[in-house]
Amino acid sequence: MVILGAGPAGLVLANLLLDAGVGCVVLERADREHVQTRARAGFLAANTVRVLERHGLADGLRRGGREHSVCEFRTGDGRFRLDYSGLGRGEPHTVYPQQELVTDLLTRFLAAGGDLRFATEAVAVHDPDTTQPWVETRDADGRPGRWTGRYVAGCDGRHGAARRSLPPGAVRIHRRDHGVSWLGLLAEAPPSLDAVGYAMHERGFAGHMARTPETTRYYLQCEPGTSPASWSEERIWDELTVRMRAADYGALHHGRIVQSTVVDLESDVLEPLRHGSLFLAGDAAGLISPSAAKGANLAVLAAEILAEALVDDLRNADPGPLSRYSARCLAHIWRAQEFSLWMIRLLHRAPGQDDEALFQEQLRRARVESLRTSRTHQDWFADNYVGI
Ligand code: APR
Repeated sequence: MVILGAGPAGLVLANLLLDAGVGCVVLERADREHVQTRARAGFLAANTVRVLERHGLADGLRRGGREHSVCEFRTGDGRFRLDYSGLGRGEPHTVYPQQELVTDLLTRFLAAGGDLRFATEAVAVHDPDTTQPWVETRDADGRPGRWTGRYVAGCDGRHGAARRSLPPGAVRIHRRDHGVSWLGLLAEAPPSLDAVGYAMHERGFAGHMARTPETTRYYLQCEPGTSPASWSEERIWDELTVRMRAADYGALHHGRIVQSTVVDLESDVLEPLRHGSLFLAGDAAGLISPSAAKGANLAVLAAEILAEALVDDLRNADPGPLSRYSARCLAHIWRAQEFSLWMIRLLHRAPGQDDEALFQEQLRRARVESLRTSRTHQDWFADNYVGI
């Protein structure tokens, strides 16, 4: 079994296969330092915590994770809070930085004797429509390599070798550009709210997500094509202060901005998630906008479904679950895509001042008001916000 990529998808898959006695090798382009320090997501759904606990992968999460269940919405009409631990299925999120989860997963895999090759870039997956696919690689010194297995799992993200190796027409790619861009920021500043903060302002959206007691992730809606360098620290904090309405609800804790990137909110979904002996999981299977923090959670969910199906095939000679892998995952992926788009429409004004934009804006305001006042809507929100 060959696994491409040591992110949440690849590492959960590898640990589960190793536990089941299925031999596998993980090929990771980056070096260990980079993989263990790359700050990305960190908002784990209850199902993700259950999967990790079910397979003994939650020790670090139990030690360093913090349950979280409050959203605060700030608009021109005031603010309201939803404590979703009492809504819907009453499940919280757990805040645990992804780089710490990835470090836990790879440390555990290596300690259990797992084979993980860092600085080994997959160049292409060959013969995926045979029973002997092989992966062509290049190491840090440019030396070629060849890895064979009964199956290959592409967990190498959106720009990885797995997607590139799909023959034309093998899969359909559903795409959507949501026409919204965010400046994604990581600040060395303690969280300023005990909640995920969603600020809807005529100047654009702003978001506040705690990461650790010392660091906070912020998002600022910006013009597509914006260069992060065009936003000075001073301008960032001034704009956050205005959009988060800090004058009304309390000053934000300032700190050094240690990460500043522009994220274009877009989605894509590949269908099916299997081509012969090549399977796709995580971002390789589909990109989802960060509007509802689903990416890492979908990656872990897909990894468990794929691992169990591979074990059924390779150890129990039952190919049934593998043949259903794509459909099972796509059902979760499309549900998450639907809710992520709903969140985009909740948090952002439709661009422009024409009749359509003004009509959409009134719909958006009605959506916010319904979320503020309707218990049924709040239960639906909670189930989709945490559920996956
Ligand atoms: N060869 C080997 N490794 C590769 C290659 C390649 N050609 N291309 C990419 N990789 C590695 C990357 O370096 C990365 O470590 O694949 C890994 C993919 O990991 P992630 O991008 O974290 O993807 P995934 O496991 O699918 O998790 C996706 O996590 O960060 C969140 O929001 C993010 O939704 C995303 C989710």
